Amino acid sequence: MEKGIYVNGEWTGKDLEKVEVINPATGELVGTVPKAGKKETRNAIEAANEAFKTWSKTTAYERAEYLEKFYELVIKHEDELAEIMTLEMGKPLKESKGEAQYAASFLKWFAEEGKRIYGRTIPPSKHNKRMQVNKQPVGVVGAITPWNFPAAMITRKLAPALAAGCTIVIKPPNETPLTAVRLIELCEEAGIPKGVVNLVTGKSSEIGEEIMSNPRVKKLTFTGSTEVGKILMKQAAENVMKISLELGGHAPIVVLDDADIDLAAQQTVASKFRNGGQTCISGNRVYVQEKVYDAFIEKVVAAAEKLRIGNGMEEGVDVGPLINKDGYEKVEKHVKNAVKRGAKCVLGGKGKEGENGTYYYHPTVLIDVKPDMLIMNEETFGPIVPIQKVSTDEETINYANSTPFGLAAYVFSENYSRGLRVAEALDYGIVGWNDGLPSAAQAPFGGMKQSGMGREGGKEGIEEYLETKYISIGLKE
Ligand code: SIN
Repeated sequence: MEKGIYVNGEWTGKDLEKVEVINPATGELVGTVPKAGKKETRNAIEAANEAFKTWSKTTAYERAEYLEKFYELVIKHEDELAEIMTLEMGKPLKESKGEAQYAASFLKWFAEEGKRIYGRTIPPSKHNKRMQVNKQPVGVVGAITPWNFPAAMITRKLAPALAAGCTIVIKPPNETPLTAVRLIELCEEAGIPKGVVNLVTGKSSEIGEEIMSNPRVKKLTFTGSTEVGKILMKQAAENVMKISLELGGHAPIVVLDDADIDLAAQQTVASKFRNGGQTCISGNRVYVQEKVYDAFIEKVVAAAEKLRIGNGMEEGVDVGPLINKDGYEKVEKHVKNAVKRGAKCVLGGKGKEGENGTYYYHPTVLIDVKPDMLIMNEETFGPIVPIQKVSTDEETINYANSTPFGLAAYVFSENYSRGLRVAEALDYGIVGWNDGLPSAAQAPFGGMKQSGMGREGGKEGIEEYLETKYISIGLKE
């Protein structure tokens, strides 16, 4: 039976229509999952609500044991998970393996962090009073996850939710539900009690609507586009649901003229081409100060031209296919718009339509880019490095901040005071200073402005799943 709906510890949905999962590298069918809708989602929420009654009463130590077991199983099966990810999402196998480990790291870290959910006592101003602050789990969580990180975006939500004592209903994307299925099978093998974790694959709008309108769901955690995030935010208003949103980014990379240019170029390539640029925190636009402009371009081109595009299952491939036609068309539009308005393409600049409706784009470097070009104003989600020449630090910061988005930004500088001043001036939730890959389970991940609200990872990540309760105690004389 195709798996996809896991409710109250049972895999169901064999009689439902199917969603086909297509390999973006070959156009071939990888598998199918059941197409669930409102009814199945309601059942999953009901199961999570029942399970919450007992799971929320377990100790943090008991919950940690389950998460540790789940962690060990993910590590044991990391090669298998990596293969599924590459087949359904397209990222190179070495990156998928890295993602499996990254996904596991959230399970391990939050297993421990759950033991550090502290309340506090407040000194009262009256002799006959005691004042106590408790933390308690919010309740049933709805989690809607994206296709670009099929495993890690699930565990980054599931691990803190479970560690806090919440139960969860997960809706994975239709592009990559098979990784989710395998992960939840491992969750089952870890012995996590029935109803605590539920999975519903299928009709995104129906499942989303049920999650957003069912009063039993107390919290939504979503990773995806700003456009969808805004719709969910409006829907959340109806039940005043707690929400955390990790939305679109448009990350600037700032290269100051005292930067270590080798490091800046190497980290720019690492950030930009991670997952073929289909990463919310990938650098999307690069601002380089005049003095180091030519040297930086030379080194970025030298590193980017070594990257090999192709099917991520093949040895030596660095950049896989784009996820679909829409993704490809957006990349193409950004490149064409920039070139038409005067940017020079010094590497790549062309796409490749593969067999069976597959889409690849060559690593591309655009120079002499201007601020009003589309690529400097919209998230590209593809393997393009647009470089603009800038002069003063003030001008550079203004350009970097001139967007409604605020997820991640990068600065390269060898000068402590200057680097720190620029890092502090950037209006972004994450700043990598001489670091193109800042994500980690123990650090807060999330954006300012239209890049979202709330944080995942770190101690901030578990707070999202907790309510604060103040108990005022009156004592008898
Ligand atoms: C994302 O693209 O949203 C996730 C990237 C990361 O966790 O580093």
